[in-house]
Amino acid sequence: MTERLDNTVALVTGASSGIGEATARELASRGAAVAIAARRGDRLDALADEIRQNGGRALAIEADVTDQEQVQALVTQTVDDLGRLDIVINNAGVMLLGPIEDAPTEEWDRMIDLNLKGLLYVAHAALPHLLQAAEGDPRRVADIVNISSVAGRIARVNSGVYNLTKWGVGAFSESLRQEVTGRHVRVSLVEPGTVITELPNHIREEIRDDMMGRFTDLERLEAEDIADAIAYIVSRPRRTAINELLIRPTEQEG
Ligand SMILES: NC(=O)c1ccc[n+]([C@@H]2O[C@H](COP(=O)([O-])OP(=O)(O)OC[C@H]3O[C@@H](n4cnc5c(N)ncnc54)[C@H](OP(=O)(O)O)[C@@H]3O)[C@@H](O)[C@H]2O)c1
Repeated sequence: MTERLDNTVALVTGASSGIGEATARELASRGAAVAIAARRGDRLDALADEIRQNGGRALAIEADVTDQEQVQALVTQTVDDLGRLDIVINNAGVMLLGPIEDAPTEEWDRMIDLNLKGLLYVAHAALPHLLQAAEGDPRRVADIVNISSVAGRIARVNSGVYNLTKWGVGAFSESLRQEVTGRHVRVSLVEPGTVITELPNHIREEIRDDMMGRFTDLERLEAEDIADAIAYIVSRPRRTAINELLIRPTEQEG
């Protein structure tokens, strides 16, 4: 049932670490040429080298996806250099937790700019190419996978604006899904629970120590667990669309 991704091109945002990095590696191992994007070019270059050494095809593109012009250039370069665009993993995100009262509102701007506007810009720029890819060989289907979170389903104190952004990703994904599914662009939503990545590193220290304590006793997911699920989604046969996947560590209750 699993289809290889040979002769396809995938774009992964936030590929310099964590879930994006693991996903780029996984998709490349299944035959996709991967365009990998983030701001830290050195990390992207190292990953691209590794993928090439393992026989894959990779293109590293430094881009800040909160800037619409850079997103347009990212998609254009992907298509120019790799020839097409079949799969988008809309993954770049930031989680700046803390109380709403007295919050430094620049943290809200950063989350809204990246988790919402960045994801929208990528979807907007990629969509014409995905629609085109879905019309022909090799798969006659295309994929956009938007990375949300358990936080897109369950709101918690100290997570209000992160919840807001991930809830938005879910709503946008479902609306887009209805718009393009008849033309064989599959829109999927992935909602990870706690995964060991750099994500909490950006939370203010006093908040981080307090908030992340509740996860120290459980066996957290690894980025490869989510990459594996994403690869499962995009390698389904043309008739099968995995619309939504919620993936928690077994011991995570909420
Ligand atoms: N880890 C978890 O527990 C968890 C749970 C649920 C959902 N998620 C979601 O999973 C996604 C990936 O997060 P992660 O856990 O893998 O964290 P991560 O290791 O911190 O990865 C975040 C990625 O986003 C990139 N990024 C940040 N700002 C960017 C910008 N302006 N333009 C382009 N890229 C940017 C970062 O690269 P640069 O800094 O190099 O730009 C990095 O590659 C996020 O959407 C997050 O909300 C994570």
